[in-house]
Amino acid sequence: MKILITGAAGFIGSNFADYFLKNDYEVVAVDNFNDFYSPKIKEFNISEFKDHPNFKLYRVDISDRAALEPVFSENTDIDAVVHLAAWAGVTQSVENPHQYVKDNVLGTNNLTDFCIKYGINNFIFASTSSVYGDNPTPFTEDMNTSFPNAPYPATKKSSEVLLYTINKNQDLNVTIFRFFNPLGPRMRPDLALPKLVKSVEYGKVFELWQDPTSSARDYTYIDDMARAVEAVIKEPQDFVIMNLGNSNPISLQDMIETVEEVTGKSVTTTENYLPGQMKETFADISRARDLIGYDPKTTLKEMVEFYYNWFLQQPEWYRKDDY
Ligand SMILES: NC(=O)c1ccc[n+]([C@@H]2O[C@H](COP(=O)([O-])OP(=O)(O)OC[C@H]3O[C@@H](n4cnc5c(N)ncnc54)[C@H](O)[C@@H]3O)[C@@H](O)[C@H]2O)c1
Repeated sequence: MKILITGAAGFIGSNFADYFLKNDYEVVAVDNFNDFYSPKIKEFNISEFKDHPNFKLYRVDISDRAALEPVFSENTDIDAVVHLAAWAGVTQSVENPHQYVKDNVLGTNNLTDFCIKYGINNFIFASTSSVYGDNPTPFTEDMNTSFPNAPYPATKKSSEVLLYTINKNQDLNVTIFRFFNPLGPRMRPDLALPKLVKSVEYGKVFELWQDPTSSARDYTYIDDMARAVEAVIKEPQDFVIMNLGNSNPISLQDMIETVEEVTGKSVTTTENYLPGQMKETFADISRARDLIGYDPKTTLKEMVEFYYNWFLQQPEWYRKDDY
């Protein structure tokens, strides 16, 4: 099968591209290597498979319709689109909503327009647990998500609603996955685990973005998520929203202690509380279990061990943020 992955040079996209290439898919990849974090990292993210015969990369901005169309006109046999390209930082979106609206909402609409024009009927969209805002936990897909805490989840919610209407009116199957705090190799440098690991390895102070005892995240292993996406690639859903979490929220304090246990080194912290952040993410995953057999089994300790062992094997410039 042939799939289009947008945002393929990012954290999740590069893991998915790797996963699908290893499982004999052809991967058409789109990324504009933006500067949300260093493009050098994104080049590094795809370096292991960029010359794979089943991998074809387009360095294109999805918000630029004219530049995007050849991706579709030159690959008319795409079976599914896995749309991950987005600006993804909660805190940064508070400063710069315009960028988020342009790339996350308009970009999504450009992709669906070309899916319809070129007869692709399976669209898989990466939404986020942050659409749940201050809802009580655990989060279920039918909760009211019209009151998120920052422009970033607002753009994801806008895209969800847009996709719903496109599905209603056009021949496009849509699956929306609300991702809950993925962990795995090539994690974005702004995320907690890479920051924690670097802080213990290089004696840096770790900045707490929230009270570590009351803040919790439902960390989810990236390969568990890739398997869920694969299930929908093989069996498209008409329209569905599914949580992809672990259904096991971990406090920031527990995360810190797990990193200390795995690395054998202690974390030094300081407070730098950030705006727009949710207190807790916690997924009810019964819908994904029922519909696609989603069954995440990776424990936090295993995830941290996988990440840490991977991190230690990376070049020094990468480990030391020297870019
Ligand atoms: N990492 C998380 O914790 C998390 C949680 C929930 C949802 N998500 C969603 O998953 C997706 C991937 O997130 P990630 O953590 O891998 O982020 P990332 O920033 O590592 O990857 C996103 C990629 O998209 C590319 N991109 C952004 N705008 C683009 C545009 N206009 N045209 C082409 N490429 C563009 C970027 O260059 C980047 O490589 C995003 O949609 C994000 O909102 C991530």
